[in-house]
Amino acid sequence: MSIQQAYNDWSDTYDTDENLTRDLDRAVMLQMLGKMNCNAVLEVGCGTGKNTALLAKLGERVTAVDFSPGMLAQAKAKISSPNVTFQVADITQPWPMPAAAFDLLTFNLILEHIEGLEFVMEQASRTLKVGGLLLISELHPFRQYLGGQARFTREDSTTLIPAFTHHISDFLTAAAGSGLTLTALNEWWHEADEGKPPRLITFLFQK
Ligand SMILES: C[S@@+](CC[C@H](N)C(=O)[O-])C[C@H]1O[C@@H](n2cnc3c(N)ncnc32)[C@H](O)[C@@H]1O
Repeated sequence: MSIQQAYNDWSDTYDTDENLTRDLDRAVMLQMLGKMNCNAVLEVGCGTGKNTALLAKLGERVTAVDFSPGMLAQAKAKISSPNVTFQVADITQPWPMPAAAFDLLTFNLILEHIEGLEFVMEQASRTLKVGGLLLISELHPFRQYLGGQARFTREDSTTLIPAFTHHISDFLTAAAGSGLTLTALNEWWHEADEGKPPRLITFLFQK
């Protein structure tokens, strides 16, 4: 099953299925961005809009993109803020956004589905203003080494969504190659994760 089809299928229960990674990501976003204010935000892989409401509060304008019509339909049903524009785009193809347009760009739980990071990092850097921030929040590679990957269950059948392992050095190398400077790297655990490797890793880069 393609990644796009899998997310279309998952979209109607993505928000309500038990999913500690999704819940932790939401809490991490609030902690990292809750006090920020900025002008233009690009949310890449917005899914059902779990983080879009927060971004719409801190940004003057938000462009939220995803390639799954099912996920976007859920987001549109939930987010009515007039400063949010939803757009269908496959981020493995040249991005339709203009250069130097955004102050903040976010990737949350999407990059495991992207085989190579170089192209999307280049596009992210191109669309950021000088001084703009790129926040990445992804399933920690330690979890990927142990078999962790996006999945959902329907009755007795579990669908594993195609995923690629990115080592920490892959993120750092691709970002540096696109002119982005690391300003913070953090690791995050859900309260249910005691004794386990970190669940999420976040990188904050600046152009
Ligand atoms: C696990 S969901 C995360 C959604 C949201 N960011 C969140 O944190 O809840 C991953 C999202 O990435 C989107 N996605 C995956 N590959 C993509 C691609 N090549 N282009 C655009 N969106 C993509 C999927 O459709 C899905 O909505």
